[in-house]
Amino acid sequence: MKGSSVQLAAEWLRKGEVVAIPTETVYGLAGNAYNVDAIQKIYDVKNRPLSNPLIVHALNIQQVKSLVKEFYAEAEILAKSFWPGPLTMILPKAAIIPDIVTAGQQTVAVRVPSHPLTLELLSLLEFPLAAPSANKFNYISPVTAEAVSEMLGNEVPYILDGGRCQKGIESTIVSFVEKQIKILRHGAITEEQIESVLQKPMSEQKSSGHLHPGMFKKHYSPKTPLWLMNRNSDFTRLRFQKNIAAICFTENFPSVPVKEKIMLSNSGDLEEAAQHLYSVLYELDKGNFDLIIAEKMPDAGLGKAMNERLIKAAHKHYN
Ligand code: TXA
Ligand code: MG
Repeated sequence: MKGSSVQLAAEWLRKGEVVAIPTETVYGLAGNAYNVDAIQKIYDVKNRPLSNPLIVHALNIQQVKSLVKEFYAEAEILAKSFWPGPLTMILPKAAIIPDIVTAGQQTVAVRVPSHPLTLELLSLLEFPLAAPSANKFNYISPVTAEAVSEMLGNEVPYILDGGRCQKGIESTIVSFVEKQIKILRHGAITEEQIESVLQKPMSEQKSSGHLHPGMFKKHYSPKTPLWLMNRNSDFTRLRFQKNIAAICFTENFPSVPVKEKIMLSNSGDLEEAAQHLYSVLYELDKGNFDLIIAEKMPDAGLGKAMNERLIKAAHKHYN
């Protein structure tokens, strides 16, 4: 069932059920973060491997502090600047968080979301909410309650409808492993914003033994093949494709005979483009195209976050 009652959502969650919730980034599939059975249901509904940990959503900084063993000075600065909002921090976990939430790791991902309905829901509850994006594992994250309903409607008792997600892409994830701050996943808060608040450049992410969001290679993928292209791509490769759809930001791929062409933003605005990216991919994926070509975004600001997702979604990647 879909509706906008936080009371109903709270009732299901107190019973140990999973409920889809709106956030400012994408819809989440939420369960009581302290309840192992509820968390198991999240993994089951998503078909997600138990080795891929979840983000815990809390009402405010105070609640977050009860979920972690240490809250570093830089975490405090970031929290003050960006919470409630689309920033997730990976910090040493407190014992109260069950191992199933963190895939057995000693760190937990935490954030305070800014969607008013979900904040109201969190204020009613006696527990924080573990919630991954409300899609099947490896599919496109939903940004409307309707998309959640199409993807998971038969498997969740309640979808809290908070309208279309304002940001349209997931939160930015930063980690503090070995006290060094790193961006593990680019997202709705840009690297530039974080650097300007901390007044230092971010170090490059190096692969380590630790779990990180990029370790599952194919991700965010439509079922339709998707190729990432730009002005310099070899368009002759497209000649055997019949039904092509194109997702554009600045270029229009004028020489490509496409059936449908979608501009992510008519004014070249990355924020607007990010808002539309998943819903456009999702709609085109339902459209029986043989191929979707997507323009590579500028490699700065939100473009970085969008490229990260497009590259993972792409079956073939041409520069
Ligand atoms: O915007 C968002 O972050 C959305 C909304 C619902 O809050 N959530 C979301 O969750 O994108 P999910 O599960 O789709 O992506 C979370 C990512 C996963 O790639 C996971 O591997 C990583 O965060 N992650 C979670 N806990 C971690 C940890 N302790 N260490 C490293 N990576 C972690
Ligand atoms: Mg996800």
